[in-house]
Amino acid sequence: MYGFAMKVYGCQMNQYDADKIRTALVARGAYETAEEGADAIVFVGCSIRDKAEHKVWSELGHYEERWRKEGRPVVAMTGCIAQNVGVDMSRRYPWVRVVSGPRHIGLVPDALETALSGDEKVVLLDDDPRELHELRFAPLERQFPWKASVMISHGCDNFCTYCIVPYVRGRFASRSPREIMDEVKQLVEGGVKEICLLGQNVDTYGRDLDRYSFADLLNDVAHIAGLERLRFMTSYPTDFTKDVVDAIAGNSNICPAINLPIQAGSDRILKAMNRRYTVEEYAEVVDCIRRGLPEVGLTSDLIVGFPGETDEDFACSVAALKRFRFDQVHTAAYSRRQGTPAAAMREQIPESVKNRRLNEVNRLQTEIARDINEKLIGRRYRVLVDGKALKGNLLQGRNPADKVILFEGAESVIGTFADVEVTAADSWSLKGRIL
Ligand code: SAH
Ligand code: SF4
Ligand code: F3S
Repeated sequence: MYGFAMKVYGCQMNQYDADKIRTALVARGAYETAEEGADAIVFVGCSIRDKAEHKVWSELGHYEERWRKEGRPVVAMTGCIAQNVGVDMSRRYPWVRVVSGPRHIGLVPDALETALSGDEKVVLLDDDPRELHELRFAPLERQFPWKASVMISHGCDNFCTYCIVPYVRGRFASRSPREIMDEVKQLVEGGVKEICLLGQNVDTYGRDLDRYSFADLLNDVAHIAGLERLRFMTSYPTDFTKDVVDAIAGNSNICPAINLPIQAGSDRILKAMNRRYTVEEYAEVVDCIRRGLPEVGLTSDLIVGFPGETDEDFACSVAALKRFRFDQVHTAAYSRRQGTPAAAMREQIPESVKNRRLNEVNRLQTEIARDINEKLIGRRYRVLVDGKALKGNLLQGRNPADKVILFEGAESVIGTFADVEVTAADSWSLKGRIL
């Protein structure tokens, strides 16, 4: 049997696929090992921005010497990046011998064995964006034994004009409620306390099913015995429905944490992005959420420097951050993705302007987050302890609203729940003490 290493990039979708691939390979007798001695390296790469792709390209060169000497490692390129540029990668680097798009990961274990045992290259691309070869394994081999994600739908049909995801992950399709429930049950029986349901737009879940909605799924999953925390992402502003708020309010184990990407604060830019809402419509959804869930952790995503974004448009995005006061915002400078409509738009914004705008929103959001967090000093939360913090001797975990809290404690509490009182705050995290 062979040793493999995994290199995973991108969002929780890739993470989830990676955990499934790892589980499938281990189930066949392969073992995970350090990159230096591995027979196979499985990349699960991301294409969302140029920088994400660049990282993987620059890693690929490192294997040349060992490949020439030993014919190892064999590289399998999977994840969103594979669908986009995997074939280019395998042309440039002969050690890339398996290329598989996200809808073909079910065939990756066989492909890897074929590539390891001969001279054959295996290319599994999603030519038909509806074709689906799933990997029928729950993601059992994970970083955290007590936390797991479960994908509830494949693909995305929204075609926001900047976004590569609909091209690399194909057409939207809900997984069946039964499959999802079985996977969650299997994970919970294996010791998982917290589950995150994943979809590019969770609110469209069930659109292709018979009278079964995302809120129904939330209610059903929340009732699985032993599941202590349930999260989900990502929500789409105008597909979001009040019954999701009701499901959270009505089930104590569904966490009040919502990621509601706004992407821009100008109606003109939202329209050019093909986001199907105006800022006022977005505000109505935020009102509905805050009214129903006063303790909600509300986060958002924002792109600066979309083609044609004027100073006035950008000022609207700044105003939106001030108006909505998100707990956290994932900001990004627009990155041109070949093949998307926005890439062909005239009026691309110079990098220097994008960077200036990015710095400005980051500075503002840092202030807002600090202000919000400081008001939480003295509050008490239940925290699922994830492990040691990167710096210092502290432990860290997340509260129901998904805020990171750092505190002193014994390593034995890792993977369990602790009650923590907040004693200090900055923009990125809270500090506390175990009660
Ligand atoms: N389905 C989710 C998230 C998809 S990708 C949603 O609709 O929000 C995650 C984030 O990456 C997006 O929210 C967006 O802010 C960012 N993103 C996507 N394409 C991008 C691009 N071309 N340039 C910069 N940021 C991008
Ligand atoms: Fe991309 Fe838009 Fe789909 Fe999100 S909803 S994955 S941003 S196309
Ligand atoms: Fe995620 Fe990157 Fe794919 S953000 S969906 S892994 S392109």
